[in-house]
Amino acid sequence: METEIASGRGALLRGAEIIKSGGVVAFPTETVYGLGADAYNADAVAEIYRAKGRPSDNPLIVHIADTEQAEGLVTEFSDAARAVAKAFMPGPVTLILPKSPAVPNAVSAGLPTVGIRMPSHEVAREFIRECGVPIAAPSANVSAHISPTSAAHVYEDLKGRIPLIIDGGECGVGIESTIIDLSSDVPTILRPGAVTEEMLTEVLGEVTTFRGEVKVAKAPGMKYKHYAPKCDTVVADGPDAAAAEYAARRAEGKRYLILARESDCKALGREGVLSLGKTDEEVCRNVYGALRYAEKHADGIIFVDLGDGGICGSVMNRVNKSAGGCRVGLPK
Ligand code: TXA
Ligand code: MG
Repeated sequence: METEIASGRGALLRGAEIIKSGGVVAFPTETVYGLGADAYNADAVAEIYRAKGRPSDNPLIVHIADTEQAEGLVTEFSDAARAVAKAFMPGPVTLILPKSPAVPNAVSAGLPTVGIRMPSHEVAREFIRECGVPIAAPSANVSAHISPTSAAHVYEDLKGRIPLIIDGGECGVGIESTIIDLSSDVPTILRPGAVTEEMLTEVLGEVTTFRGEVKVAKAPGMKYKHYAPKCDTVVADGPDAAAAEYAARRAEGKRYLILARESDCKALGREGVLSLGKTDEEVCRNVYGALRYAEKHADGIIFVDLGDGGICGSVMNRVNKSAGGCRVGLPK
């Protein structure tokens, strides 16, 4: 199959035709690119799993263009859901709510709930509107690889497997949406993102963040290997630990690349260092592109810890998974 990359109104209309005939299309959102299909068509949804090589017990988020589209998907829109929607939708947040029987099991992977998200990216919303149905979509990467933040990233992973990538430029946020489970007694963040725990607490009062090991099917995606570059990846406690690790690898004849925020780059010098940017938002926007660059150009990645809390805490949630929990401190 030829994979076309196209932009503009013509691409949107062609994409909508493919969706209506039961196919899959990659499209931009403000977080990462998604691989979409008609959420009410179980066969089309099965095609997403095939194209990505995704385990079938990992449910998909359903994307909507407006609140009316949410009505057929959930059985109740609670006060808490309304409050979060009012504060952060459209935007980088996904609500887990009790699902309506109209949502195929192929979308929810058999769970009684469904994830709902209204992207703020204009191209995404126009595309969903043209499709006329809610769009089920995971990130448009090969399963377990780094999520794509440009059309070129999607092409790298899915060329030959999907007919069309709608190009909407680089994603502004850069990591996947915050997932908040509103189907349980206490609202629970299942995946942190640019809408932070602090922001959600302000709206909801009480919020907890899920930090445990996932064994049961509450949030199946959390138990899988994720965001993995195709090369060795470690997190360093700080710039000094990163420099020591870099030197140790260099002595073995290996070229690692250090990824760090701009303020840490000053302490590191320029050799073998890639800056992720100055502000938290820039770092978040650049992180996946930098990991993809590094896996192509280096023998391994040393990622300098960005610290806890806020958006950087959400970025580190992904990077720690990229590294499979592997960390280095200063040699004692
Ligand atoms: O920003 C995003 O959310 C992007 C863009 C494309 O919208 N989408 C995305 O989808 O990241 P995906 O499939 O890569 O990640 C969705 C995560 C998975 O870990 C999945 O297990 C979880 O959401 N999920 C989906 N439905 C769920 C449900 N009903 N209950 C618990 N977790 C759910
Ligand atoms: Mg994903």
